[in-house]
Amino acid sequence: MCGIVGYIGHRDASTVLIKGLKRLEYRGYDSAGIALINGELAYRKGKGKVANLERVLKNDSLSGKLGIGHTRWATHGEPNDINSHPHLSESGNVAVVHNGIIENYTTLKKQLTERGRVFQSQTDTEVVCQLIEEIYHSSPNITFEQAIRLALKQIVGTYGLAIIHKEIPDTIFIARKGSPLLLGIGDNEMFIASDASPIVEYTKRVVYLDDGEIAIVTKNSYRVKTIDDVPLTKEVHELAISLDAIEKAGYPHFMLKEIFEQPRSISDCMRGRINPENGTVLLGGIEDIIDKLVNARRIIIAACGTSWHSALVGEYLFEQLAKTPVEVEYASEFRYRDPLIGKGDVLLVISQSGETADTLAALREARNKGALVLGICNVVGSTIARETDAGVYTHAGPEIGVASTKAFTAQVIVLIMMALELGQRKGILTRQKMKEYIIELSRIPSKVEYILEHIDEEIKNLAALFTYAPNFLYLGRSYNFPVALEGALKLKEISYIHAEGYPAAEMKHGPIALIDEMMPVVVIAATDHTNDKMISNIEEVKARKGRIISIMNDDNPEVKKLSEFCISIPSTLDCFSPLLTVIPLQLLSYYIAVNRGCNVDQPRNLAKSVTVE
Ligand code: AGP
Ligand code: GLU
Repeated sequence: MCGIVGYIGHRDASTVLIKGLKRLEYRGYDSAGIALINGELAYRKGKGKVANLERVLKNDSLSGKLGIGHTRWATHGEPNDINSHPHLSESGNVAVVHNGIIENYTTLKKQLTERGRVFQSQTDTEVVCQLIEEIYHSSPNITFEQAIRLALKQIVGTYGLAIIHKEIPDTIFIARKGSPLLLGIGDNEMFIASDASPIVEYTKRVVYLDDGEIAIVTKNSYRVKTIDDVPLTKEVHELAISLDAIEKAGYPHFMLKEIFEQPRSISDCMRGRINPENGTVLLGGIEDIIDKLVNARRIIIAACGTSWHSALVGEYLFEQLAKTPVEVEYASEFRYRDPLIGKGDVLLVISQSGETADTLAALREARNKGALVLGICNVVGSTIARETDAGVYTHAGPEIGVASTKAFTAQVIVLIMMALELGQRKGILTRQKMKEYIIELSRIPSKVEYILEHIDEEIKNLAALFTYAPNFLYLGRSYNFPVALEGALKLKEISYIHAEGYPAAEMKHGPIALIDEMMPVVVIAATDHTNDKMISNIEEVKARKGRIISIMNDDNPEVKKLSEFCISIPSTLDCFSPLLTVIPLQLLSYYIAVNRGCNVDQPRNLAKSVTVE
C-alpha cells in the first residue's frame, strides 16, 4: 500500500531512488530503505522518514547504477528497522521490496523455517526473498527468473515487487498482482515505481504492468511476460498529467481518491480473514484473547469523531450478532469519569491514526483498572495499537484527507467480522447463518463499486442545489442512525455548513421545529426493519415543507413518492447497510465543499490526528 522505486542506467542510483521515494511521500509511510548492487549487494533502511534515510546515506553512502527502494506502510510487523524494506534472503544475495499483503505468509514461513531457513523480521514480505532463493538453490537447472515465477505461483495475496540478485548486476525483476507498478523507459536507463510521480521528471514514456505479469528490466531493454512464461507486448503510454495530479492518482483531492478507493480498501480489510465457502471468520490479531471476549460481561467501545460513529454501528452489531451487551463512550468523556470498569470487562478502542490523545488516555484508564483492552487501528505500530492487549488492523492504506472516509467503512468491516466471529464462538450463529452473512459481506466491495459508478454524477448535481444551504438535518434509524451522524460530520468539517444527525424518531422531540422549506433533510431509508417508521418520519418532514433527500434501496416506491430527491443504492442486509448508505453522504459533503471553494483535504481548524487533549 505504499511505495516502490527502482533504477538502472547511467546515473547514481542512490540519488534517483531517494528522490523517487520523496516523490512518494504523499502516500504516507512509516519507514524507508534502498538496496544497490555494485559488486556487492548493499542496503540502508530504517524506521522513519526518507529524510532520515538520506541523512544515513550522507554519512554512509551507497554507490552503484542499479538499485531498488521502498517506503513502507506496515501491515505485518510493526514499523522498526528490521521490518523495513528491502528484505534480503539468508545468503544476502537476493533483495526484495514489496507493496501489498502476502496472505499465506505464515504457512510459507513455517515451511521455509522447517527447511532450515532463518528469518530476521516479523513481516510477510520476507518470505518472498527467502522462498525465491530456496527454489533457486534447490533446483539447480533453473534460472533466477524461473525461480521468481515459481515462487509467485505459491504466493496468495497482493504484491508489487522489485527484486535484485547480487550475481545478476544488470537486471531488476518486477512483478505485479493487485498493487500498481509501472516502468519508465528512458534513454539507456529504466525507472520503476508504484506510480508515475518518481518517473515523470525523467521520462514520459511508461509501461503499466498488469496483474499476473512480471518484467525483466535492464538499462536498455525490458521483457514482459505472464508468471506462466507467456511473452507479452505492452503498449507504451505517454504520461500527460502533472505531478500533483499523479499524487492524487488523477483525482482533484485525496478525499475523493480515498472515497473511490473503498472497494479496494474494504477488500483489503477482509483479505485472508473471511471464507465464504466454509462460513468462517479468522481475525489473527485477537485469536489469543477470543475466549476472554466470548466470556466478557460487556464490551465498552471508546473513540472520537468518525471512529465514534463506527463504534455506534459496532454496538448494534455486537448486540444483534453476538448478543453481547455494549456501551459506546466518547473517549474524552470516558477518561474523565473515573469509569466503572474492571476485570471481566473489555474496552475496545477505535482509531484510524492510532494517536488520538483522548482515545489513548481512555485505553490507559481502562487498562489501569484491569480491563482487557483491544484496538481497531489503521496505522500499524501506532501508539494505541502498541498499548492494547490485542487488536485488528483495518488495512485501509494511508488516509491522507483529514475527513475520514475509507477508514470508517474499514472500521465497520472489522466490527462486522468481530461480531460474526463472536456470534459463531458463542453458538448464536449457525454455520449456515455464518455462510449467508459472509457471502453477502464478500459482495460489499462490488456494491460499493456500483454505487460509486452510478450515483457520482447525480450527487454532484444535487450538491449544486444545496451548496449554500445554511443548515442540514440528517435522519436515520437503527444501523443508520450512526450514519446520519457521520453524514452530518462530513458536511460540517469540510464545507463548514451547520449540520445535525438525529435518530429519526427523535425529531418530534424538538428538532422538528427547525423544519421549513429552507431545510434540506437527508433521510437514510435503507433498512428494511425500520422502513415503515421511516416513511412516517418522512411524512412528518414533508408536512412541514422540508426538502427531503432520501438515500434508499432501489425498490422503495413509498419513499420515492414522498421524496423530492432520491438516491437509490443496492440493498444489503440491514446490519451491513452503513457500508453502502455512507457512500452518497461522503460524496455529497465532498461536492458541496468543493462548490464552496473549501480546502477539502485540509479543512480550517482541523488536523488529521488530534494528538492534543
Ligand atoms: C473525521 O472525519 C475526523 N477527521 C475526526 O472526527 C476523526 O475521526 C477523529 O479525530 C478520530 O480520529 P482517529 O480515528 O484517528 O482516532
Ligand atoms: N505487507 C508488507 C509489510 O508490512 C508491505 C507493506 C507495504 O505495502 O508497504 O511490510
